[in-house]
Amino acid sequence: MPLGAADTARAVGALAPLVAQGAILRRPRLTPLADRVQADAHGVGTWRRLARRYDDRPVLVRLGVRDLLVPLHVDDARAVLAGSPEPFSPASAEKRGALHHFQPDGVLISPVPARPPRRAWNEAALDTGHPVHSAAPHFGETLTADAAWIADRALRHGDLGFDDVDDLLWGTVREVALGPGARHDARLTDELQALRMRANWSGLVPVAARRRAAFLRRLHEHVLDAAPGSLAGHGRDAAGDSSMVTSQVAHWLFAFDAARITLWRALAVLAARPALQDEVRAEEGTDGMLPLTRAVVEETVRAWPTTLVILRETTRSTLWGGTTLRTGTGVVLVSSYWHREPVPGDDGDAFRPGRDPGGRLVVPFSAGPVVCPGRDVVLHTTSHLLASLVRAARWSPATHPHLAHDPLPSSLAHTAVRVSAGR
Ligand code: HEM
Repeated sequence: MPLGAADTARAVGALAPLVAQGAILRRPRLTPLADRVQADAHGVGTWRRLARRYDDRPVLVRLGVRDLLVPLHVDDARAVLAGSPEPFSPASAEKRGALHHFQPDGVLISPVPARPPRRAWNEAALDTGHPVHSAAPHFGETLTADAAWIADRALRHGDLGFDDVDDLLWGTVREVALGPGARHDARLTDELQALRMRANWSGLVPVAARRRAAFLRRLHEHVLDAAPGSLAGHGRDAAGDSSMVTSQVAHWLFAFDAARITLWRALAVLAARPALQDEVRAEEGTDGMLPLTRAVVEETVRAWPTTLVILRETTRSTLWGGTTLRTGTGVVLVSSYWHREPVPGDDGDAFRPGRDPGGRLVVPFSAGPVVCPGRDVVLHTTSHLLASLVRAARWSPATHPHLAHDPLPSSLAHTAVRVSAGR
């Protein structure tokens, strides 16, 4: 259903804050602003109104030469995810333009024929489908020690914000992904951050070619040296090395940022909810799995998805509900619209770890053939960090005490959250 001028303006108004916050690296000043004005809630309201007006049919937003289809019914969204990578390729123009700045051969932006070996390498390296990665015993100690360091620092200083743990958590990421040899190479992730900052501007700024080449060279050396107990070392042993591997690992480092953000948000919720914190603290788990803590992490990323929009692009002209979509039509799934969709008997604005999503589409890690192959690694590492944090201290909110109660705020700027620690 192509939108008229007024509805196009409304749709653009709902999409703009998602872009402004930074698709690739959260812009530090704009994310707290989005929080204050609860931009996500306004955006979701707009999509709900459009859904009512157009009987839940997908709407087509025409932006100059670019057509963007926004599905508004859950069945349409599921069909798009199931129909990836063809005819709905994940390598949309926006994503290609952005990720190209630091991972030119990443699977997510690869042409469809080039995807299979890159996807297979990722799955082999990340043990996709296995809740506990086979290298987990090697990096388990790192997670516990780093959580202890954070708790200790909080106990000494009283309270902590994300900035206080930012560098340490990058060290954790480098060690888990690349082994102890990369632990102290802060330059590696600093360079990545600089490239990601440019990536926010997608194709509007040229690639910093020399900087990117230097970053990828540095990363490739780490991949070659990666210990077998790291993700990259496991990948190299399981599926070999190739020139494309460096781009895949560049994606991992980028994507682990979302895990760090989710960790901090989950800690904020537990700090505000002492009874749930006690349950997490008491969880013993079996076979390396911590089901409740994992569910807390999953619920956090449902409530505040780190991938604000899942983008697709048609690879050929595609018939959709009686309308033919041109090749190259963009498809936009707005995560917050789906994750908190009202369904009977289930409050999407409540924090309920382990909830049954019912008919709701909950896709923080996407779904279908392009589902995040790092999902299990994320849930494992983040839940272990979180569990170790609450075992090492009792946390309470230094900011955001309202997280104690439902409804949850529609967005949560992790950089604004501070938590206090006591014994
Ligand atoms: C909270 C953390 C994370 C979230 C929420 C997340 C979410 C996602 C989502 C939504 C996609 C699909 C995007 C799309 O459909 O267009 C994706 C793809 C991907 N993710 Fe993650 N991710 C996370 C962390 C990670 C980590 C840590 C790794 C690796 C260690 C990883 C590896 C990948 C790869 C390789 C892809 C591309 C898959 C493909 O194109 O087939 N992700 N992730």
